[in-house]
Amino acid sequence: MTFSAAEKAAIISIWDNISGNVKIIMLTFDSRLFLSFPQTKTYFNHLDLRHGSTDLRRHGGKVLGALGEAAKHLDNLEDALAKISDLHAYNLRVDPGNFELLSHCILVVLASHLPNDFDTTAHAAWDKFIHTVSGVLTSKYR
Ligand code: HEM
Repeated sequence: MTFSAAEKAAIISIWDNISGNVKIIMLTFDSRLFLSFPQTKTYFNHLDLRHGSTDLRRHGGKVLGALGEAAKHLDNLEDALAKISDLHAYNLRVDPGNFELLSHCILVVLASHLPNDFDTTAHAAWDKFIHTVSGVLTSKYR
């Protein structure tokens, strides 16, 4: 999957907006994922899933950090995500369908937190970005 210059700019621009807002945005990701799709909680039994918990903040920060790294390596996502791709496929064994659920939540959260910046261009670029990331993270399930 390749990204045009305009898509890259839109992805980085939204990333710049959310990178200073790690806790709020990621807490919302986790809360929204777990509230909207409670079946996803089964993967996180070992964590404290109460809203605002240290575990959720730490986990959210890691996921956001991985997305930030990915946003900086749009031409080489396979290498940039290799470690967490192995982790999700071989250790965590997350069913690939869950990536669709998280991707949906991420887009909803971005749209609700950044109503002015998350315009149609940014929406389309982030949709492509998050689905490409999910594709890389589920590419080793065979
Ligand atoms: C852990 C990223 C999707 C379940 C992680 C970590 C990262 C990450 C960076 C931490 C790795 C480490 O500690 O070294 C992502 C990204 C995703 C994604 C970028 C998609 C955009 C999912 C989905 C699920 C999931 C859909 C299941 C519903 C987990 C679990 C852990 C984890 C259970 C381990 C948590 C812990 O023990 O602290 N993920 N992930 N991930 N992820 Fe994902």
